[in-house]
Amino acid sequence: SCTEKVNITFEFPDGTQQKVTVKEGDNLLEAVLDNNVDIDGFGACEGTLACSTCHLILPEAVYEQLSSDISEEEMDMLDLAYGLTETSRLGCACHVTKELFEGVVIKVPEGINDQR
Ligand code: FES
Repeated sequence: SCTEKVNITFEFPDGTQQKVTVKEGDNLLEAVLDNNVDIDGFGACEGTLACSTCHLILPEAVYEQLSSDISEEEMDMLDLAYGLTETSRLGCACHVTKELFEGVVIKVPEGINDQR
């Protein structure tokens, strides 16, 4: 297949890391679920921008490059996320590209807040 694989790493609050391989074009919610990354309650609304449980923290450089595609809906939901940071995004709204995500470490927040 011509689908590019992208290597990304999830880092948990205790500092442990899990490396995963993601298909280019998948979003970060799919990346977590498809790789059985163990985040309690993650993706509760199944990617419909209705829960904020897919909150992840991007490196600043990646966040900056993606900042133009944050929708109003995502902003509103992000505001309700637990432990919001300057570079927080909702995983279901972030699509993985080789160019931006190869080798990147994405932080898992300390807790989640299911807004539903
Ligand atoms: Fe619910 Fe992303 S999975 S907002």
